[in-house]
Amino acid sequence: MIEISPDEKILHRLLGSALEMAGAASQCEDVQVLNLACGACKEVEVVSAAALDKLGRKGSELRFVGADIRGAGISEARERARALTEKGAQVEFMEADCSKLGDHGELCREFDMVFLRHQNFWNDRKAWRKIFQNGMEHLSDSGLLVITSYFDLEHELAVKAIREAGGELISSVRNNDSRELPTPGKSVDRHLAVFRKPGRRG
Ligand SMILES: C[S@@+](CC[C@H](N)C(=O)[O-])C[C@H]1O[C@@H](n2cnc3c(N)ncnc32)[C@H](O)[C@@H]1O
Repeated sequence: MIEISPDEKILHRLLGSALEMAGAASQCEDVQVLNLACGACKEVEVVSAAALDKLGRKGSELRFVGADIRGAGISEARERARALTEKGAQVEFMEADCSKLGDHGELCREFDMVFLRHQNFWNDRKAWRKIFQNGMEHLSDSGLLVITSYFDLEHELAVKAIREAGGELISSVRNNDSRELPTPGKSVDRHLAVFRKPGRRG
């Protein structure tokens, strides 16, 4: 069994309470999660657990799709997700440029949650604007898009870009338990923000 690290335990709590605050309780028969730019997806268990707990009903099943442009993390992600698949979850990882998700017509556009951990808006603003747009486009009408960020200013800029891509900001919280990293001003899941499609209530 894979150990859940302290960072992921903190993320679990943070995401759980943000989803609860978003009023997303127990609506979905089966819960579908899309994790964009997932890397090695250390968060696969905790994001799945929070989504099932807060978005699903008793007995809901999980479908989790992770995507990253770099294949290197994907095999590690698949290994990590094995325990979930053994329990019956449908988990798949794909090597894909998430700024071009339109090329993946097979991907459904009805995800209950699109999750982006440690978005990297600073790295290539044009590509990340497209990634955020694609995330919004792959949400169901009641779906939620969730980001976390390493830095204060990068978070602020990403929130602005997602609002410009049509996301309505529900909440943005500073994670007070966030672990500081050696780079000044950088810490793990330092901020978490939740968005929905405009006009949705409750
Ligand atoms: C800061 S890392 C975060 C990785 C992971 N979500 C985490 O929190 O550990 C940013 C990730 O974005 C991925 N990425 C960058 N551009 C991308 C693109 N156009 N499509 C898909 N993934 C991309 C990188 O490969 C990297 O895994």
